[in-house]
Amino acid sequence: MRGPAAFEEYYRDLYGDRWPRLRDALVRPPEKAKMPTPGGKVYELDPASILTAKSLPIEPHHRVLDACAAPGGKCLILAQSLGSQGNLIANDVSRPRRLRLKKVLDEHLTSSARNRIAITGYDVRQWSQREKSSFDRILLDAPCSSESHVLREATELQKWSPSRSKRLAIDQYAMLASCLDLLKPSGIMIYSTCSLAPQENDGVLQKLFDRRQEDFYLDKLDFPIGRPTQYGWYFLPDEDRSGPMYLSRIHRKP
Ligand SMILES: C[S@@+](CC[C@H](N)C(=O)[O-])C[C@H]1O[C@@H](n2cnc3c(N)ncnc32)[C@H](O)[C@@H]1O
Repeated sequence: MRGPAAFEEYYRDLYGDRWPRLRDALVRPPEKAKMPTPGGKVYELDPASILTAKSLPIEPHHRVLDACAAPGGKCLILAQSLGSQGNLIANDVSRPRRLRLKKVLDEHLTSSARNRIAITGYDVRQWSQREKSSFDRILLDAPCSSESHVLREATELQKWSPSRSKRLAIDQYAMLASCLDLLKPSGIMIYSTCSLAPQENDGVLQKLFDRRQEDFYLDKLDFPIGRPTQYGWYFLPDEDRSGPMYLSRIHRKP
């Protein structure tokens, strides 16, 4: 089964009576916050994305990885918490998206903040095979189903099938496990997606519990909007006028 009818059935099963409201909210133009940036410009970003990036507690001297950074909205927030002793790797596997990322960082940061950022193009799933325990903080804003995008693009909706989340969840887990190994002991990371599918959110965390429970623990999150899930937090656009965004905060054990 694929296409609009399969999509409708899948999300109606997940969200029940709420689904029509949620679907309407997903296709409404998003209400973005106008975020003034140190470069003297304004970057428009969803409020849930701002809360997600700010929930990574960065200290000025930290070595930080933004593992899937393009186009760079959350990266701008991470960069502003770093001091002169800190540095940030802004990584994205896609070359065209890295070019967009570079433009965003060049335009919105002061030269001293920009000089603390290196842009790289590694596949996060394999990164921990080359190095381990390297970063104090990691943001893993993973590629996901992005249902709001699917609903707005007729060709994407035609191609959609339930196996999409299943496939993505496999990659998301590989990225999450790799990032856990890249974190220093006692380091903290955020795993986030803009997907409505629990399989890509709490489901990925469940797999980490099943396979790596001895290596990490989770934080209790609290925000002025949204609601908790089993392992994280959801911002959903029908009630929060923001999102969709899921996040979980993960501590690597000392
Ligand atoms: C949700 S977007 C990131 C949005 C970004 N954090 C922001 O706030 O602007 C996910 C990104 O992951 C990148 N990506 C996909 N697979 C990847 C992989 N295996 N390794 C590194 N980056 C990847 C995509 O190119 C895409 O730009």
